[in-house]
Amino acid sequence: MSSSILITGASSGIGKALAFELAKKGYSLALASREADLLQQVRNDIIAAHHPPAVVIRPLDVTDYEDVFKAVDELAEALGGLDIVFANAGIGLGERVGKGDFEKARRTIEVNLIGAMATVDAAAAYFLKKGKGHIVGTSSVAAFRGMPKSSAYCASKAGFAIYLEAARAELFKKNIDITVLYPGYIDTPLNNMLKNRPFLISVEKGAEIIASLIEKRVKSSTVPVYPWNIVGRLMKILPTGVIAKM
Ligand SMILES: NC(=O)c1ccc[n+]([C@@H]2O[C@H](COP(=O)([O-])OP(=O)(O)OC[C@H]3O[C@@H](n4cnc5c(N)ncnc54)[C@H](OP(=O)(O)O)[C@@H]3O)[C@@H](O)[C@H]2O)c1
Repeated sequence: MSSSILITGASSGIGKALAFELAKKGYSLALASREADLLQQVRNDIIAAHHPPAVVIRPLDVTDYEDVFKAVDELAEALGGLDIVFANAGIGLGERVGKGDFEKARRTIEVNLIGAMATVDAAAAYFLKKGKGHIVGTSSVAAFRGMPKSSAYCASKAGFAIYLEAARAELFKKNIDITVLYPGYIDTPLNNMLKNRPFLISVEKGAEIIASLIEKRVKSSTVPVYPWNIVGRLMKILPTGVIAKM
């Protein structure tokens, strides 16, 4: 029997590319994001390209926290069960401290942290009932060090990574695996306006690496693994003066 995965943030970027990658491998897909038209287009293109066993879509705003719980149950039922939930939806707004950007900061925490937590909580509730499962979350290398002009983004990603670690400990021996992904720069609309994107990889390459990490059920990994496994450690010890110029 093929595996099934729910991907949030599946209308664009990493989520969309992962949907194509896993469809190629024969997964059944449940795709969610706010833009129903984009999701429908992704569904049509995936079916035409890879003929996966099933592709279901559902509009979902992860900040409509009650609806997140309904969506997980509805999509699980629509696919006849879910094996993996990928909490991936996220935004990057480029907020600055003390410059009138608090609204952007609040929105970033609501989507990237609380919306992602709601997705994980709903997935855990479903997998606890089922007796097994796999939860994957997209953090970021931005979780390793607070960077200028992305304070709330860094906080959301660090917070989400720690939340997932805590969930892993709490669900220990419950047959539910937790994978925390820390992508570096992957070429998507989230960051394509930035001048400097070190060690950039294509979204297709990123999806290929993420699919392999998910299938290995790793506890956590940077994406790509190298050089960010080394650079991530360096980021933690660089002097503030160096970080301030980034
Ligand atoms: N690209 C990178 O280099 C990179 C690096 C580290 C981490 N990440 C993380 O990877 C994840 C995916 O980002 P991406 O680069 O693929 O960006 P993207 O191309 O902008 O895709 C973001 C996705 O999230 C969805 N989304 C945004 N707000 C949402 C909400 N309130 N409810 C439901 N879905 C929502 C968007 O769909 P709708 O607009 O249709 O809702 C879209 O499908 C994010 O969590 C991001 O922080 C990306």
